[in-house]
Amino acid sequence: MRVLVTGGAGYIGSHICLELLEAGHDVTVVDNLANGKREALRRVEALAQRPLELFTADLNHKDDLSAAFSGPRIDAVIHCAGLKAVAESVADPLRYYANNVAGTVTLCEVMRQHGVSRLVFSSSCTVYGDAATVPITEELPPAPVNPYGRTKRMIEQLLTDLQASDPAWDLTLLRYFNPAGAHASGSIGEDPAGVPDNLFAFIAQVAVGRRPELRVFGNDYPTPDGTGVRDYIHVVDLASAHVSALEPAGGPAPRVYNLGTGRGYSVLEVVEAFERASGRKIPYVITERRPGDIARAYADPSRAHAELGWRARRDLHEMCRDAWRWQSQNPDGYPDS
Ligand code: UFG
Repeated sequence: MRVLVTGGAGYIGSHICLELLEAGHDVTVVDNLANGKREALRRVEALAQRPLELFTADLNHKDDLSAAFSGPRIDAVIHCAGLKAVAESVADPLRYYANNVAGTVTLCEVMRQHGVSRLVFSSSCTVYGDAATVPITEELPPAPVNPYGRTKRMIEQLLTDLQASDPAWDLTLLRYFNPAGAHASGSIGEDPAGVPDNLFAFIAQVAVGRRPELRVFGNDYPTPDGTGVRDYIHVVDLASAHVSALEPAGGPAPRVYNLGTGRGYSVLEVVEAFERASGRKIPYVITERRPGDIARAYADPSRAHAELGWRARRDLHEMCRDAWRWQSQNPDGYPDS
């Protein structure tokens, strides 16, 4: 297949591109390079020893996007492009709706014009909001609690409506839990702009000396050690789920799958695991809770296993080891290019 990956130059997208190339697929990337890096794709090509195509285009620029569909026939789209910072989405919701929701509408229009009907969408466990019960199954009613989460949920709804309007569409929604780690080579990984929001990226920068200490956002949650519990999933496992999701699977479309390990770890457990994997001390201070955070979230990933034959294989130690390999080999992330 030739697979078009939106946001393919980003952290998750670049790992997906590599898995696709290694599985024998051809890859076309569409990325506006707002957060993605050209260098990430060069490294993907070097690892896979195969080229891919990059179109630098914004999803909301229909003509530019169309150009990406005008070359060799595209068989399927993996749609990862999107803004993803919760606080930023609260401060500037219009930007989030325009970029994430309107961008997806344009993408689907362009797909329809070019007769491409298969789409795998990067959704998020954020659509569940503060789930009353764990583990979280796909049956739980979505209740996102911030604009970012609402954009993800709206896209799921628009894709569901699209599927109902025309069964020729073949749509799959993947709800990611907390991606972490990097490719085992250490050559591609997470390179956030500015101060990292996410735990793993922040810890990695503390370990490498870019930041003095981690702030642990609250230790009074109803969890075993009081800190927040999440389902961290190795980014290579996450990427491989997309390759599985391209194959025809059971269940009526749009198919919805949780992608997690089914196991939660607390912030302090992650700190300890990272210290062990890196041999570095991670100084931390306990601070106030971060507004909008929830106590715990972890997946029931059994549907993805039953229907896609996929399961996460890498554990927390491998996430820490590979995140550290990436960060220590690339202390300042990718060079500017
Ligand atoms: N945390 C800290 N200090 C930090 C960063 C995070 O203590 O500097 C804690 C958080 O409080 C939380 C845990 O580490 O308990 C994980 O936080 P992340 O920011 O890494 O991940 P979240 O679970 O908050 O967010 C992730 C995605 C979001 C998505 C959300 C849905 O990054 O895009 O899951 O639950 F919206």
